[in-house]
Amino acid sequence: MTNKRVLSAMRPTGRLHLGHYFGALQNWIKIQQDFECFYAVADLHALTSNYADTSKIKDDSIDMVIDWLTVGIDPQKAVIFRQSEVKEHAELFLILSMITPLGWLQRCPTYKEQLKEIQNKDLNNYGFLGYPVLMASDILLYKAQNVPVGEDQLAHLEMTREIARRFNNFYGEVLLEPQALLTKSAKVPGLDKRKMSKSYGNSILIAETEDEIAKKVKTMYTDPLRIKATDEGHPEGCVVFAFHELFNKNSEARKQECKQGCIGCVKCKKELTALMCEFSKPLTEKRNELLKDKAYIEKILAEGKEKARFEANKTMQEVKKAVKIL
Ligand code: TRP
Repeated sequence: MTNKRVLSAMRPTGRLHLGHYFGALQNWIKIQQDFECFYAVADLHALTSNYADTSKIKDDSIDMVIDWLTVGIDPQKAVIFRQSEVKEHAELFLILSMITPLGWLQRCPTYKEQLKEIQNKDLNNYGFLGYPVLMASDILLYKAQNVPVGEDQLAHLEMTREIARRFNNFYGEVLLEPQALLTKSAKVPGLDKRKMSKSYGNSILIAETEDEIAKKVKTMYTDPLRIKATDEGHPEGCVVFAFHELFNKNSEARKQECKQGCIGCVKCKKELTALMCEFSKPLTEKRNELLKDKAYIEKILAEGKEKARFEANKTMQEVKKAVKIL
């Protein structure tokens, strides 16, 4: 056991899907063995883009925590808490916003991309522009050495390091520059082959029911060049095969069978359905147990809040002293 510290967070989007599982959670579960982990529900981050309708944020946060526990995030090993319940996140965000050059934020690739892509919301807000500063605060507050993130978050992590450096240059060595803990995570396609995403309506949930799994696998995009079962297949571009790679230990054999036209798509999908149901069954049982005991979830969040506050407060005292407001 090293005492290296990790912080990561997810925006509360309600129930999680297999993209979250294979893209992040599997890794979160693994590293809780070897690191001191802080896992935050980034509900303040959710406000930066969903400020117009906040009605679901609380329920979505609880649903997300239930899914974390369902897949094996262990509250004995990791500190699980809601960002909004530790006021130091907002406090450090304010201090760091004073020293973060506007240009850094305006040039941030995720910022430019989302402004362009998300058309149904007005994102011309101060808070949305400051998203990376809030994320930097999450990380720097806990002096986390490592941050498990996907590639899409690397620019934010780089900015966190730059902000820490700039703070330390102005006020003395207080903040720690974190490293990314990049993991080779599987890319999980959605049913339609685009990236799996709640907003595309192409996702399969963690702990999905058997009926839903069967129904969804039936709609999966397959090789369009394959008309008859005996035609040679092209597993590389097939969503069903992508899922075999995740769930089937013998996926290599399946690849060959498909290429040689030895197995039809219908049978291939049936086998996938069975494998996915096998994966989902214990998770569904665990989830149903957790659903019965909301008080337990609240207790975990209450304990997480205390532990997180303790650490956050320590850093904030140092920060304030360094800035000479304390
Ligand atoms: N921005 C991250 C995402 O969208 C979520 C997040 C918020 C985060 N604060 C963080 C991730 C701190 C890592 C560390 O996925």
